[in-house]
Amino acid sequence: MAICTPQFLDSNEGRGIEFRSAVPEDADAFLIFQQQIAHETKFTLQVPGRAPSKEEVMRGFSKALEDRIEIRVAAFHEGKMVGLMGIHQRSGAHPWTDHVVQFGMMILKDYWGEGIGRKLLNILEEHAKNKGIHRIEATVRSGNKHGIRLYTKAGFKIEGTREHAALIDGLFYDELYIAKML
Ligand SMILES: CC(C)(COP(=O)(O)OP(=O)(O)OC[C@H]1O[C@@H](n2cnc3c(N)ncnc32)[C@H](O)[C@@H]1OP(=O)(O)O)[C@@H](O)C(=O)NCCC(=O)NCCS
Repeated sequence: MAICTPQFLDSNEGRGIEFRSAVPEDADAFLIFQQQIAHETKFTLQVPGRAPSKEEVMRGFSKALEDRIEIRVAAFHEGKMVGLMGIHQRSGAHPWTDHVVQFGMMILKDYWGEGIGRKLLNILEEHAKNKGIHRIEATVRSGNKHGIRLYTKAGFKIEGTREHAALIDGLFYDELYIAKML
């Protein structure tokens, strides 16, 4: 079971943020959060008007709660979902790659720069260490200066570039491969 027990942070702006595993009952909150993210930034794969069904979200959160490695940690402010971090194993279980996980995170724009990303990374690393994970990796858009700063300050190294990894409104964007060995 991959569960994050509740943790709290007084953000840089003095807001009380709760972090815990997302549960199926959070599906409605997630769908509102996901569409707000889609409208606020193009640095994730969330697209305005494109959303999973409530059932898919509930199934995804349930599956993560039962999985040994996968985890979905949500950040809440006064009951509103303001951030989410997820870990998964790209190719499923395999004895040669079980030590590797991918992660992604997204936070509402009004909450950027308050330390929520750093806290989610701490939770991620703690969880990964407990599960015997050795390598954590992700991709980040090359123009995402806040993301790159957060990850490199936390010890992630940039390993390479995925040229033209995204095509948005007729323009190509590169992504960086980032990784950290624990
Ligand atoms: C990238 C992202 C996850 C960072 O999370 P965050 O909670 O804003 O990050 P933190 O507050 O923990 O801080 C990270 C660093 O960026 C800086 N920063 C973050 N947002 C900032 C802003 N709006 N203005 C100035 N600096 C900012 C912080 O000051 C901090 O630097 P420091 O350690 O030198 O003080 C968040 O901005 C986000 O969700 N962006 C949109 C989606 C996205 O890019 N996801 C990542 C895809 S890989």
